[in-house]
Amino acid sequence: MSNDSNAVPGTEAAVFNQEGTVKTWDDDYYHPIAIKYYDAAIPQMLKEMGLSSGDRVLDAGCGPGVHSIRAAAYGCKVTAMDLSSTMLRHAASRAKAASLEDRIEFRQGDLTKPDLGEQFGAVFSWGVVIHVPDTEAALDGLASLVAPGGRLTLQVMNDRSFDYRFEKLLRKLLRRPFAELVETKLGSGNWYQLGDERLWVLRFNMGALDKAMKSRGFSLVSRRPAEFSEFQRRLPGALRRPVLHLNTLIYRLRILTGLSATQMIFYSRDA
Ligand SMILES: C[S@@+](CC[C@H](N)C(=O)[O-])C[C@H]1O[C@@H](n2cnc3c(N)ncnc32)[C@H](O)[C@@H]1O
Repeated sequence: MSNDSNAVPGTEAAVFNQEGTVKTWDDDYYHPIAIKYYDAAIPQMLKEMGLSSGDRVLDAGCGPGVHSIRAAAYGCKVTAMDLSSTMLRHAASRAKAASLEDRIEFRQGDLTKPDLGEQFGAVFSWGVVIHVPDTEAALDGLASLVAPGGRLTLQVMNDRSFDYRFEKLLRKLLRRPFAELVETKLGSGNWYQLGDERLWVLRFNMGALDKAMKSRGFSLVSRRPAEFSEFQRRLPGALRRPVLHLNTLIYRLRILTGLSATQMIFYSRDA
């Protein structure tokens, strides 16, 4: 089903192996206020997926392992999978620093052709499919990793968000269009420069994503805001605080999901 490829061979994986990418994401996302939010949101996500202490879960695209560690702290036995050896190295060292390495098994693998040799009753994938240029192949791969009757939770970006509408308006007013905008049947994609490499970011059309998951045998259970705004990344020091507090509030109140920059989407695989 991978007929929607925007891949530029040789470039799409390299960005995930740059040390600078880990540093950028740490700086952008792990402000103390955001950490507090993730410390609450990840266990809540696992609870909503029906997971209890001792259950297994796959973190598909674990990156530097921050959410794998939270899942392990919740009590899950975690398989943490990622394409990038750099990310896995950071994940393993952070798991060790948290004394949770015994509950996390690290596996290198490509979501577009997963070869873990097993399926999982619960899979979450936070901020990953948005970065895979061949979106259809990534969704195929994710779907194949979920056991019949299992649960899958995605955190993805939203093409109808307040952030994206605002950015588009601003770019129009300033006559600074996106350099590499690619409209696909699943959403609106852009290539961004990150260090020496390019990073693909797809903002999903949520209706199209639900349809794509339905065609793969998944039903929508629920959705809620993840981060209302990501503008905090572009703000200096203290100005980030109000945006991060607003994000926490909107997440807690479960409001403005349709306008949120990112959504958490809970699916279940048909039995
Ligand atoms: C934005 S990071 C998110 C990491 C982590 N889930 C988090 O929230 O901190 C995206 C991750 O997806 C991984 N990734 C990208 N393409 C992948 C693929 N085809 N298969 C597996 N992992 C992939 C990258 O290496 C990177 O670690």
